[in-house]
Amino acid sequence: MRIWTIIGCTLLISAAACKKAANTAGSGGGGPTKTTGVDSTYNPVDPPLAATIGFFGDSWTARNLSLPGDTNVAPTALAVTDSLTINRDNVIVKTPPYLFGNNSNLWMGQIVTQAIDAIIQKGEADFFREFAYDVPALVLFKLVGVPDADVPKVKSWGVSRSLLTWGSLSDQEQVPHAHNMVEYWRYCQDLVRQRREHEGDDLPTDLLRDQKSGGKISDDEIAGVLYSVLFAGHETTTTLMANGVRELLAHRDNWEALIADPSLIPSAVDEVLRYAPSIVAWRRKALKDTSIAGVALPQGSNILLLLGSANRDQTVFADAQHFDVQRKDARKHLAFGYGIHTCVGQQLAKIEFTIALEELARRMPGLRLKPGQKFEFAHNSSFRVLTALHVEWKAA
Ligand code: HEM
Repeated sequence: MRIWTIIGCTLLISAAACKKAANTAGSGGGGPTKTTGVDSTYNPVDPPLAATIGFFGDSWTARNLSLPGDTNVAPTALAVTDSLTINRDNVIVKTPPYLFGNNSNLWMGQIVTQAIDAIIQKGEADFFREFAYDVPALVLFKLVGVPDADVPKVKSWGVSRSLLTWGSLSDQEQVPHAHNMVEYWRYCQDLVRQRREHEGDDLPTDLLRDQKSGGKISDDEIAGVLYSVLFAGHETTTTLMANGVRELLAHRDNWEALIADPSLIPSAVDEVLRYAPSIVAWRRKALKDTSIAGVALPQGSNILLLLGSANRDQTVFADAQHFDVQRKDARKHLAFGYGIHTCVGQQLAKIEFTIALEELARRMPGLRLKPGQKFEFAHNSSFRVLTALHVEWKAA
């Protein structure tokens, strides 16, 4: 069992100190040192679970599981910096034109429209399963060049990856998910091979083009980028959409405000990210001896940053426990992390949810939470993922 140094960003240290921790530390795993305890006004992570879980370090994903013949499991991840710019040695991949090009709102809007068309006559739906689950995957997979038919498969591998890395499975329970990781990794390698033979208008094609023009990036590294992005790029946005719709409908005056004035939608997206972030806790590793808010952190300490807690820091946000889409400074949240590892997909996630909210507010203004439901969340240390979100509306 591994013991973690846990920092509750709200009370033990401020959000600013949380940023300091993010900057002075790397994001790898490794030797644990001490536990400082958690004391926070918003700590949705089960503290005993967070304190004992050890998957961030050298046991994450399938790489330590013995799978005969499947040794080539662990991909080489690239460091990804700045917004959608991937850097390694002399390899620099610019933001692809198809991502934020003139027609991006159009095709993302089409995906959202189709998802609403599929449910609008029903008058009720599990919003999580029937809308939020697929929309971000369809968007991302188009960018990465994964055919729509493979969406369910890749989504289910994402669930396996999440369970292996942040869940609390027994050794036996991990085995089928570890096999899924092998399939997932091979899928990424195959995608690279396919794009070498048939170019597409997507990320692997761009990376291969860089490789061809002298960029120092191997095929496995390209597969590693895909392995990373195919997971990071949709689960969290699914959660953003489900958490967002839940909070907006639960705080009905905010939903009504969006209906009356859709120009509030971009700030509503940031307020959701602040108030109910998809990732409530993230890892860091101290690169040198340091101390944060009086807590000594020896070199090599594993640190769990409670981002969800920092987002409700009363010293940073006025009336921080209050959900308010009119808040002017919600963008100061730490939902996308901080520093050189800050989320590369944040603009994409925000654009997707903005488009979804615009369409939902326009076509389903009477949307409301189904009464009497109990909200349940997946059991893990970092992702605040609903298991279902039942909504209803008056069908036309
Ligand atoms: C609501 C949606 C999202 C949330 C809340 C989120 C959150 C995060 C967080 C907290 C980190 C760690 C940052 C740090 O260590 O400081 C991260 C990293 C990352 N995210 Fe996201 N993310 C989201 C969407 C996306 C999307 C859409 C993509 C891809 C298109 C993406 C790709 C990545 C990648 C590749 C990294 C690793 C960056 C690195 O280590 O350099 N994310 N994200």
